[in-house]
Amino acid sequence: MSLLVTGGAGFIGSNFVHTWLAGSDELLVNLDKLTYAGNLGNLQALAQDTRHVFVHGDIGDRQLVEALLQQHRPRAVLHFAAESHVDRSIHGPLDFIQTNVVGTCQLLESVRAYWSGLSPDAQQSFRFLHVSTDEVYGSLEPQAPAFKETNLYEPNSPYAASKAASDHLVRAWHHTYGLPVLTTNCSNNYGPFHFPEKLIPLVLHNALAGKPLPIYGDGMQIRDWLYVQDHCRAIARVLEAGRPGETYNVGGWNEKPNIEVVRTLCSLLDELQPRTDGQSYAEQITYVKDRAGHDRRYAIDASKINHELGWRPQETFETGLRKTVQWYLDNQDWVTAVTSGHYRQWVDLQYGG
Ligand code: NAD
Ligand code: DAU
Repeated sequence: MSLLVTGGAGFIGSNFVHTWLAGSDELLVNLDKLTYAGNLGNLQALAQDTRHVFVHGDIGDRQLVEALLQQHRPRAVLHFAAESHVDRSIHGPLDFIQTNVVGTCQLLESVRAYWSGLSPDAQQSFRFLHVSTDEVYGSLEPQAPAFKETNLYEPNSPYAASKAASDHLVRAWHHTYGLPVLTTNCSNNYGPFHFPEKLIPLVLHNALAGKPLPIYGDGMQIRDWLYVQDHCRAIARVLEAGRPGETYNVGGWNEKPNIEVVRTLCSLLDELQPRTDGQSYAEQITYVKDRAGHDRRYAIDASKINHELGWRPQETFETGLRKTVQWYLDNQDWVTAVTSGHYRQWVDLQYGG
């Protein structure tokens, strides 16, 4: 028995690999291209672990993926690999189309070829689990109900559009070819190994470096935050008991305006690692130009996965954020390693130095 995970050197993928291997002896094959967002340092604790096989490669490489499938004969493929940052998709959408749309399609074709050759029993129990996002649903009005699985797809950024396209491909491979797929659409994650281009780790990194904490626009955009290990547990549960062809929304019932998130991070840092001048880190908050086409509000209605599969988050925003801040304080070597080189070029492009 084995699993093939794509994108397992990224933020959520690496958390999934750790969470999964903490409770299973099944072989886990981890295929990752190691883009700027992929980092073997996230998997360092597994360096000597024979249950984890890392393969450096692209999901779009049919020859490689088909050879891996034949060699390891996984009972499931969990597809995390993607270009994932909205701001980067605004600067350069084509990488997003290449990996998220074309790459997902190539992967589906490789998996379909493998799956078609399985015995009827193995075909029935096989799963392709596609990890997607709430951003496919677009932006909510202030009083609108949270996103349900039945909401229309209204993606607004190149990233969201590429993920929406990938969701449609996954759906079509089920409907047309019978591939037993599952799709999860999750809200904003936070936690260990979060790359500091995203709001929470960027703010922690800048705060400790004495740099401005950039708030886009008025800072009143709302996101629904979920601790990453709760997301990983949801994925494991959907893999175990989700119904093929179904989609499951995953979220934390934690809607917060960005400015509130940043102020809470500043308070936690004030408590755990106070500034030497006695001032609050909140002094570093700086309002900057808004993101183009910035979605105002996301919120997930996770009642389907709760009622059907019994999943609900274990962390509150308060407990999860405290753990996260402590993790960043305890892992400054990791932060230093991922914020060298190309990271600086990105910061210059996005924030003007
Ligand atoms: P990430 O950017 O941290 O990691 C992506 C990983 O995919 C990296 O390790 C990268 O090297 C790898 N990768 C990229 N292109 C590849 C390719 N062509 N072939 C093989 N590997 C490739 O992303 P993340 O935040 O961990 O997100 C993982 C998945 O979860 C994505 O599909 C994303 O859309 C989805 N998601 C993310 C969030 C979030 O808050 N971060 C929320 C909901 C859904
Ligand atoms: O909703 C799920 C999505 O969450 C995932 O699909 C994406 O992969 C993930 O990146 C995340 O997208 P967001 O755009 O919501 O995350 P980000 O951390 O980039 O931004 C969170 C909010 O903070 C958003 O409203 C933009 C704002 N922001 C972000 C940055 C980087 C700022 O105000 N300043 C910043 O410097």
